Amino acid sequence: MPILQSREAYPISSLISSLNMNLNITVLAGDGIGPEVTAQAILVLNNVASRCGHTISYEYALLGGCAIDATGEALPSDTATKCEASDAVLLGAVGGPKWTDPKARIRPEQGLLGIRKLMGLFANLRPVKVYDALIDASTLKPEVIRGVDMLIMRELTGGAYFGKPQGRTGEAPNRSAVDTTPYTEAEIARLMRMAFELARGRRKKVTSVDKANVLATSRLWREVAHEVAAEFPDVEIEDVLVDSCSMFLIRTPRNYDVIATENLFGDILSDEAAMLAGSMGMLPSASLGEFINRHGFRRGLYEPIHGSAPDIAGKGIANPLATILSAAMMLRWSFGLTAEADTIELAVERALADGLRCKDIASVGTTVLGSAEMGQAVIERLNL
Ligand code: IPM
Ligand code: MN
Repeated sequence: MPILQSREAYPISSLISSLNMNLNITVLAGDGIGPEVTAQAILVLNNVASRCGHTISYEYALLGGCAIDATGEALPSDTATKCEASDAVLLGAVGGPKWTDPKARIRPEQGLLGIRKLMGLFANLRPVKVYDALIDASTLKPEVIRGVDMLIMRELTGGAYFGKPQGRTGEAPNRSAVDTTPYTEAEIARLMRMAFELARGRRKKVTSVDKANVLATSRLWREVAHEVAAEFPDVEIEDVLVDSCSMFLIRTPRNYDVIATENLFGDILSDEAAMLAGSMGMLPSASLGEFINRHGFRRGLYEPIHGSAPDIAGKGIANPLATILSAAMMLRWSFGLTAEADTIELAVERALADGLRCKDIASVGTTVLGSAEMGQAVIERLNL
């Protein structure tokens, strides 16, 4: 059963951890709307922490365009040091028109890729949940998307994003460029293993997505996926080619539970899946690695899947819900604070059910709020 649907059944306050924890979080607010949405997530985190007896220490650091402006580097060493020393990282968004010159030697995205690699964040979890209240926000038919609840697991530190050689040679008319997609069996196995473990707590189905009819890396992917599947006889595995997956995602999206795939396929499919939920402004993500933090959980980086939205930056209208939901994922995966995470997710669901919207998902008959008002609306609905 989708976890969300069973929540009303128990009084959440009775499940709040009695342990008083100290959470060390590094905040990388980044560019564009990043500072606005992270500010709201921090207010929610503070509220939950103070009411549940936890304390949070925040360190702030620069990443992306703001870091390039201040230091000349997209991932300054101070940022790397702080992230490595913390239990978890909360990230807003990076990038913007100011730094998009394709000829620029340093780009904001390098900061994001750099921190993923540095922290060894090989597993990117992108849950896609269609809220009943938002069923009309999607361009797809309600009967197709109602009840969609899937988890896309994207391998995050391998494949074409990091493969060498990568680059360009020659002058026109003889320009050429190359990207390389390497994968080792160890990289595939650790991602698939996590996918199966998470599927066990869900509907027990893993869809492994590849392009095994063309790519050697995909044939290895499929082979290793099945070897790992043998360790999880209680979980179903299916193989789907990436092109056909992109079709089935909009045709019969409810059939998917956990989708596990390589870096580039996961990047593309998760944007497509985001449209089932109506808006990128709703979707959180967690990036996890092998490193275990002081609390015995995986150190992770948590960020909304949307970008820096420079067109609306500074206006106070960006939807903070994806970042607030990312903060909930942080409590769940990096601190084991399941009930606190549930509470935040439920508060978001209640705000939506009460007809509250930010501009990106507004529809007739709903109340449009700014970022701060939406953050406050979530806080008011925390059942603590
Ligand atoms: C994402 C983004 C990044 C990616 C970009 C900004 C480098 O699209 O997190 O999905 O491609 O991984
Ligand atoms: Mn992407």
